[in-house]
Amino acid sequence: MSIFRIGVLASGGGTNLQTIIDHQKAGKLTVEIALVISNNPTAGALQRAQAAGIKTLCINHRDYNSREDFDRALVSALKDNDVNLVVLAGFMRIITDVMLNAFVHRIINIHPALLPAFPGINVQQQAIDYGARFSGCTVHFVDGGVDTGPIIIQAVVPILPQDTASSLSERILEQEHRIYPQAIQWIAEGRVSIEGRKVMIADSADCESTLINPIS
Ligand code: GAR
Repeated sequence: MSIFRIGVLASGGGTNLQTIIDHQKAGKLTVEIALVISNNPTAGALQRAQAAGIKTLCINHRDYNSREDFDRALVSALKDNDVNLVVLAGFMRIITDVMLNAFVHRIINIHPALLPAFPGINVQQQAIDYGARFSGCTVHFVDGGVDTGPIIIQAVVPILPQDTASSLSERILEQEHRIYPQAIQWIAEGRVSIEGRKVMIADSADCESTLINPIS
């Protein structure tokens, strides 16, 4: 059987990419990272990929007249590299139908909140300002909306009274690094299917615990 190939798109520091690389190197993620693309020439993610000997490409959105033209360049690079799954890891661009139609149900994203609460950006601060007792992170398939696609896996992180956006982001990131490789591995194993809004994962165990915050 041919190895499952992923293309990772990242705009920033790339800690999620690093976790994917580390899981792959440790044999816990049985995929090939075919290439890493960034829209940002100075993204730490590009350096992390290069350090790991992974092919990189910078496709700068500023060089394109429209979101669609930018997406056409992404699609062409991803197709040239025979990518089975597109993994958005801190990719801060809204993608268009050009990408969605080229990779139907083949694009996933990680978001630092418990969707459908707090889609968009600066969501850690929004969750704190709202007074939510829990936030977390979500891996979901990408559809035409902003952070609206079918949910694959989530992790819950309590919000503490002294939390700042930075401290909360740090604890959420720890959980992102657990659930993103897991979701990718499930997809690579062919265990994930979509029925309407619901994502089915064959042979996964259910979580039975309930969380309450604060306690006593
Ligand atoms: C992560 O927290 C990810 O969930 C978020 O950007 C960060 C990237 O960190 N993504 C989004 O907000 C997407 N809208 P990283 O570059 O260290 O992986």
